[in-house]
Amino acid sequence: MKQRPIHQELIVKTEKIVHGGQALARADRFVVFVDDALPNETVRAKLYKKKKQFAFARAIEVLEAAPERIPSDCAWTGDCGGCTFRHCTYEAQLGYKKQILVEALHGLPEAQALVQEVVPSSQTNDYRNKMVFSFGETLDGEFRLGLHRRGSFIHIVPANNCLLQSETSREIVRRIVLLAQELDIPPFHEIKKTHGLRQLTIREGRNTRQRMVELVTTQAYPGLEERLREVLDDLADTLLLSLDTNLQGMPRPGYRQLLKGNGVIEETLNGLRFRIGPDTFFQSNTAQAERLFARLQEWAVQNARPAIALDLFAGTGPIALHLAGLAERVIGVENWPPSVEAANENLALNGIHNVEMVAADVNDALPPFMPAHADLVVVDPPRPGLSPDAIDWINRLTPDRLIYVSCNPSTLARDLKLFLQRAPYRVEAVEPFDLFPNTFHLETLVVLQRTIHS
Ligand SMILES: C[S@@+](CC[C@H](N)C(=O)[O-])C[C@H]1O[C@@H](n2cnc3c(N)ncnc32)[C@H](O)[C@@H]1O
Repeated sequence: MKQRPIHQELIVKTEKIVHGGQALARADRFVVFVDDALPNETVRAKLYKKKKQFAFARAIEVLEAAPERIPSDCAWTGDCGGCTFRHCTYEAQLGYKKQILVEALHGLPEAQALVQEVVPSSQTNDYRNKMVFSFGETLDGEFRLGLHRRGSFIHIVPANNCLLQSETSREIVRRIVLLAQELDIPPFHEIKKTHGLRQLTIREGRNTRQRMVELVTTQAYPGLEERLREVLDDLADTLLLSLDTNLQGMPRPGYRQLLKGNGVIEETLNGLRFRIGPDTFFQSNTAQAERLFARLQEWAVQNARPAIALDLFAGTGPIALHLAGLAERVIGVENWPPSVEAANENLALNGIHNVEMVAADVNDALPPFMPAHADLVVVDPPRPGLSPDAIDWINRLTPDRLIYVSCNPSTLARDLKLFLQRAPYRVEAVEPFDLFPNTFHLETLVVLQRTIHS
C-alpha cells in the first residue's frame, strides 16, 4: 500500500543528538527525531514518517539556533545522504559522538566512566580514500553523478564539489560528467531499468598517491573505452570499464575490462603495505586508521607480549599485520574468501610469516585449527556485533586481554555486557576515534583485561 505523504508541521525544542544524527525532541506524548537540528534549538519541523509513539521530521526553519550551529560549506547539506553534521562545529560533533557512546553504555557504569574524549581526525574534509558515486537524473531530466539524496534510492545529489573526497577525485567526477554528455550516454534508471551509466568508484592511496577508477555501465557503448582512457590518463593509475548486466538489486560488475594499470593500487598503514583491488574492503580514512591501529598495538603489549593473538573479523588483515611484529603467532579469521586471499597477499607483500588466515564464520562455533588458549583476542565485527556463540567460544580460549573495535555503540554495549557477565574481565579503556567527520559514525576501541588467570 502506498504511504500517504504527511504534511504536519510542529514547533519543537530539541534535547540531544541520537545515534543516526537526529536531534531528539518531545511533542505531547510523542518523541520526534529531527533531521538537521542540533541540541537546544527551537525549530519548525515537518513530519515525514509517523509511528504510534514516535515520528521523524526535518527542520525547515531554525527559530532559535544553538551556539554550535555554523553555516555549512556544502550547498547540498540537508539534501545529501553523505553528511549529517556540516551545520555545526567540529568540536560539537565530537561532543555529540562522545555523548552517544556514553549513553549507549548506560548499563555498564564501569565502562561509561572510562570513556575518553573522541580522538579527532586530522582532516575533516577530503579524508576519504574511497568514494562510490551513482548516476541518475533530476525530474527535469538533468544528468547527475553523485551521492544519493537522503532517504532516496533514485535521486542523486551532484558530487562535482563533494568535500569528502580529494580535489583530484572531484576533477574525475567532473570529467566523467562531460564525457557522458559528449558521448550522449544516459544514466541507468533504477525504476524504469533503462540502460546507461551505473556507478563510478574512485579509490586513492593517500600515502602512495596511487589511484584506481572503475566505471560501471549496464551495456557496452561505442567509443567509451578509448575516450575514457584518454580523459583519465593523467589521473588514474589503474582504470577499469565494467559491465553489470543484472539490472535488479545492487550494482555488481560481472565483466571487468582493464583499460590501464594492473587492476590494483597500494596503500600503506604505519609503514605496512596493502594491495587494494576493486572489491577489497579497506578502512576509508587512512590517517585515522593509522592512529587507531597504532593505539591498538600499544594496548596489545601493555602488560605482556602475547604469544598467540587472534584477529577475528580480519578482513584483508590490517590488524593481524599490525600484531605480527608483537606476537609470536597470529591467527586471522574472516568469512569472505576474497578478503582471506587479499590478506594472504598482503602478508606476502610485507614478508610476514607468523600470521595464518582461516576462512570461517566467527559467529558460528569455534573455527577449525584454533589453539586451546589465546593471550590476546581482537574483534572488529560489522555493525550487528558478535553472536552469543562467538562470545562463548572466545571466552573458552581464556584470553588475558580482549580488544573490541566497534563501529556501533549499541551492539558494543550489548556484547560487553555478555563478556563481563560470563567471564572475569575488567574494562581497562574506552577510546572513541572519529574516522568519519561530518557524519554520525564512530569507531570505539575497548580494552578488557582478565582478572582471574586460568
Ligand atoms: C568492520 S570489517 C573489519 C575488517 C578489518 N579488521 C579492517 O580493519 O579492515 C568486518 C569484517 O568482518 C567480516 N565478517 C563479517 N561477518 C563475519 C563473520 N560472521 N565471520 C567472519 N568474518 C565476518 C567482513 O567480511 C569484514 O571483512
